[in-house]
Amino acid sequence: MRKLPYFSLAQKEPSLESLLRPRKFSEFIGQKKIVERLNLILKAAKERGEAIDHILFCGPPGLGKTTLALILSWEREVDIKVISAPALQRAGDLVGILTSIPERGILFIDEIHRLLPSLEEILYSVMEDSVISIITGKGPAARALKLKLPPITIVGATTRPGLLSNPLRDRFGFIGNLDFYSDVEIMQILERSQLILGLNLSSSVLMEIAKRARGTPRIANRLLKRVRDYIQVENKEKLNEKEVKEILRFLGIDDKGLDEIDRKILIALRDNFKGGPVGIKTLSEFLNESPETLEVVYEPYLLRLGFIQRTPRGRVITSLGLMHLLENKS
Ligand SMILES: Nc1ncnc2c1ncn2[C@@H]1O[C@H](COP(=O)(O)OP(=O)(O)O)[C@@H](O)[C@H]1O
Ligand SMILES: [Mg+2]
Repeated sequence: MRKLPYFSLAQKEPSLESLLRPRKFSEFIGQKKIVERLNLILKAAKERGEAIDHILFCGPPGLGKTTLALILSWEREVDIKVISAPALQRAGDLVGILTSIPERGILFIDEIHRLLPSLEEILYSVMEDSVISIITGKGPAARALKLKLPPITIVGATTRPGLLSNPLRDRFGFIGNLDFYSDVEIMQILERSQLILGLNLSSSVLMEIAKRARGTPRIANRLLKRVRDYIQVENKEKLNEKEVKEILRFLGIDDKGLDEIDRKILIALRDNFKGGPVGIKTLSEFLNESPETLEVVYEPYLLRLGFIQRTPRGRVITSLGLMHLLENKS
């Protein structure tokens, strides 16, 4: 079996994931406007010796929100703590975390739209005045407690910006809306990843992978890892386009990068709901997927491909979507 550098297959994917993560803005491909603006914010904060302004990243999963937050901390050379909003239940937990962040450090709150309202309120004064103000006790014994914090940066990430409250959104100094990547950008990401993984695939093979990655770096890297498994197991040095297409098809990925669930959505719309419109709840019950998953994971890319449309009365399949189903019978 061919030896691969850096790690063995026995290692789990998360460590690979961190290996593939760009560590500097200069290594981060695409999202040019956002990166330029972040660089400006970063430079200005560095020159003034201040904490970076609060930043919010919005966009579908796998586009680089967490990566950008980590790059900010590396480039600013400050600590970062990463938490996921749904895991935070009590005010005390949030206060404990906030007070553990050193001056100019970053608190990264993932899925920030799911922060409980009572915890969200704590953030308001932290983001505005670097003060934690909470009420302790009840009734006549209630007391307002104020705690001064050093200046810190809150970086939030959300896949559902529409669910964020206005007061919270307004407190971010910069909002970066991440968009899907072009095939060429995904291809550049794959070039970088294949160097790290010790692969040597041709540009045309990488392009076949890129075209099926739904404009999403995480998916591109995942497909590349599966192709790498194949190369290793089959003891191959080289792959041609035909082979890579076969591998990807074997993995259930079609020409446009749609997987089985995407196709189920399209087929359900066509065959079970007369093309639509159908409400997201009805559709999700029919498919046995949560409405949240449909909206966050599947819909954005189907919308982008123009295979479905959102109407006030629900989702409809388009003629492009119907055509795709005809061309990709499985
Ligand atoms: N612009 C990029 N350039 C290179 N790799 C990227 C880029 N954006 C994301 N990635 C890769 O994709 C993976 C997913 O990114 P991540 O930041 O975790 O996405 P999100 O937090 O938006 O779900 C990361 O492991 C990273 O390696
Ligand atoms: Mg993330």
